[in-house]
Amino acid sequence: IPVDPFDLVIFGGTGDLARRKILPGLFRRFCAGQMGAESRIIGAARTDLNTQSYRDFAKDAVREFEPGGAKNAKHLKGFLELLDYVVVDAKGTQGWSDLTKAVRDDVIRAYYFSVGPSLFDDLAERLHKHKLDCPGCRIVVEKPFGHDLASAQELNQIIAKYFDEHQIYRIDHYLGKETVQNLMAIRFGNMLFEPLWNSQYIDHIQLTVAEEVGVGGRGEYYDRSGAMRDMLQNHLMQLLCLIAMEPPAKFNPDAVRDEKLKVIRALDEVAPDDVVRGQYEAAHDQAGFREQVGNPDSTTESFVAMRAHISNWRWAGTPFYLRTGKRLRERASEIAVVFKDAPHSIFDVEAGVHRNILTIKLQPNEGIELGVTIKEPGPGGMRLVDVPLDMTFAEALGPEEADFPDAYERLIMDVIRGNQTLFMRGDEVEAAWAWTDPIIAGWQERGEAPLPYASGSSGPDDALMLMHRDGRRWREIKA
Ligand code: BG6
Repeated sequence: IPVDPFDLVIFGGTGDLARRKILPGLFRRFCAGQMGAESRIIGAARTDLNTQSYRDFAKDAVREFEPGGAKNAKHLKGFLELLDYVVVDAKGTQGWSDLTKAVRDDVIRAYYFSVGPSLFDDLAERLHKHKLDCPGCRIVVEKPFGHDLASAQELNQIIAKYFDEHQIYRIDHYLGKETVQNLMAIRFGNMLFEPLWNSQYIDHIQLTVAEEVGVGGRGEYYDRSGAMRDMLQNHLMQLLCLIAMEPPAKFNPDAVRDEKLKVIRALDEVAPDDVVRGQYEAAHDQAGFREQVGNPDSTTESFVAMRAHISNWRWAGTPFYLRTGKRLRERASEIAVVFKDAPHSIFDVEAGVHRNILTIKLQPNEGIELGVTIKEPGPGGMRLVDVPLDMTFAEALGPEEADFPDAYERLIMDVIRGNQTLFMRGDEVEAAWAWTDPIIAGWQERGEAPLPYASGSSGPDDALMLMHRDGRRWREIKA
């Protein structure tokens, strides 16, 4: 369904995110017919470009990062015509009156703050001063949304000076992923799962976001951040909320976000021996973490695993095991809901113990798999075997249907539609930091260093122990 005409101003319009994600994403939506020729995308940055050279910049970005190939190439000219550019100094006076002339009053307006948080204040203040903060306009902000609770509160306050919460779209791109939303469809669109979705039937839940890549060129940022701040406080926390939340009464932004917030607030403080941190070592052909971030003494973690507990009626007694890290065996992210053993086995001991596991695969191959136990075919008596009821989306829906929009495409279109369901509310972000801060403070107080792990492994052995000591096992990291 096409969206209404809009003006989208991208501050930081020549930056890396604009090049890799925002512009290619917008192009894909244009190809899909979701935005018409009346919409405008206005790049705004200090770089000395004009509309023509910005269109060239966008053309290169699309060619490099948009995988649509020849099918989409015929739309490129039309897309580039939507683009405009204004030189704007976020901290100065240059360009603001040009921007005032570039935007229109009779269309939806959104400002994408694709810049570091240190510029939020300057941008918001200037938008206000130049009367660019019209009541219906929206602003989009990116992670990292704060470094801890205090800085997140400060950012929230800065933005709240000029914008209401209903105008603020805080992006967590994991919420734009197809399977992440499917998690809600599976839980609340089926009768089958929800009655069993509690500690009476679920033994534990495992959440893995494993990356094969290292920190790449982001060493400086990452050394200040670490896996806890970069991934767990936001992406894994959001996944946890969607798995664990109560059914919202409606699928609307505040109903969903209220329920997510309750989950975060019900999280117990994490005991020190319930968390394991790791840092990858050099491999034969690849630099180790410390070398990559340019800090030989770095005690920042590139891996974190933990056992978390949600203290409420639904989940008391069901642990959640979370892990994420870089330079692991494969890029493979999944949520595994491991059900309890049947209370009594009517079969011979040799038939063994079998468990149902519902696996929601986030990437690289989106899909859902339900492990069920059946009789092994053949005349050999009652032998039991586990088989997957597998629904890989690309197979089940066909390649066309399973050509999912990238998370950014979907989220930007939601901004234009004015739908905040998949964006984090200010109180949610703060609650997540309030839970994360003491864990990080504990490491600092105890002077704890992360444990080394081999590149291409599953992380440090202690992370395996985190589950072994409970008589459980991590699932293999496998795409
Ligand atoms: C980003 C993190 O938010 O998410 C990166 O800053 C990480 O460090 C990335 O690599 C992972 O996203 P995805 O979509 O590739 O799983």
